[in-house]
Amino acid sequence: MKKIEIVALPGDGIGPEVTEVALKVLKAACSHYDTEVNVIELPFGGTCYEEFGSPVTDEILNICKEKHVVLLGAVGGPQWDDLSADKRPEAGLLKLRKELGVFANLRPIQVYPELAGASTIKQEVIEGTDILIVRELTGGVYFGEPRFTSEENGDPFSVDTMKYSRSEVQRVGRVAFEAARLRGGRVCSVDKANVLESSRMWRKSILEIAEDYPDVELSHMLVDNCAMQIIRDPKQFDVMVTGNLFGDILSDAASMLTGSLGMLPSASIGGDNGLYEPVHGSAPDIAGQGVANPLAAVASSALLCRYSLKMEDAALMIEDAIQSVLQKGFRTGDLYNDAPDTTLVGTKEIEKLLLDVVTEKVSSISSR
Ligand code: IPM
Ligand code: MN
Repeated sequence: MKKIEIVALPGDGIGPEVTEVALKVLKAACSHYDTEVNVIELPFGGTCYEEFGSPVTDEILNICKEKHVVLLGAVGGPQWDDLSADKRPEAGLLKLRKELGVFANLRPIQVYPELAGASTIKQEVIEGTDILIVRELTGGVYFGEPRFTSEENGDPFSVDTMKYSRSEVQRVGRVAFEAARLRGGRVCSVDKANVLESSRMWRKSILEIAEDYPDVELSHMLVDNCAMQIIRDPKQFDVMVTGNLFGDILSDAASMLTGSLGMLPSASIGGDNGLYEPVHGSAPDIAGQGVANPLAAVASSALLCRYSLKMEDAALMIEDAIQSVLQKGFRTGDLYNDAPDTTLVGTKEIEKLLLDVVTEKVSSISSR
């Protein structure tokens, strides 16, 4: 039996509920492939602030760096909204991403056929959509300096800095081109080059590396147009690569193609490190009620198998389990819309259904 150690940071709100499901499914799938997953669970975000007065501690960061693989739930909540910027739960997440150096955030947008009717967008528009958003995660306006608030003639003002260097753009660009080679062979780079200097640098840098990928078709799109095109005709996209802020916004918009933000997993990678988190937030309004959709967290654990553990079979097993639960018509509240042959269920029921599928596979495959 191979042994693997990972860090789990369940965090705030619905984070602990969905992470618990994801860990159980992950362990079950890996054990089928002779791998034992040991989990070091640590406080993070608002929960960590309550205990240590900071959303993440150096010790926690060091353990994450040492173990290389982190599964995260969600951070944030109204009780921490008034804290200073560096104490907010979100600051812990940004620090973790930066310290781990996970500069490429992969957000796959896949429309499960079973959910094509659950989106607010017309079924024929979204059916068959399969986009990979590659979002730059450790640069841009999220981290640029200077950033400060001051006052001019009695009028307070604030400054953020959107900065991109060629090397920052090109390393994430290469992730997108490499990914496109394994998919539809197309990259769309999204920027605001008609207005922003940092976007003109972005476009130029992408064009330079494109020469190394003559087999990949490159296009450029302005971010405002892209926001519209995602809704108008999402099937036109294969891999999309963009900066930190644009990727944040476009991925929330794109999540609606899948029926719910509750379906979207993400993988953040860089060097040997991988950070896996659902795109949805902490949803404090439904936290602790057992109604949260754990599927994005579960799908994130599949990405963890794929990118960090290099266990593609386990990843597929988890993804199959998600699909089979949907096929059988089980839906959490975010997806449920009274459609025929569907049943409204809670988080724990989804967990049981997923584990049934995964362990059923264990016995059916191992008894061959
Ligand atoms: C996301 C989130 C984060 C971000 C927040 C919580 C800091 O919205 O992962 O998309 O803006 O990156
Ligand atoms: Mn976001």
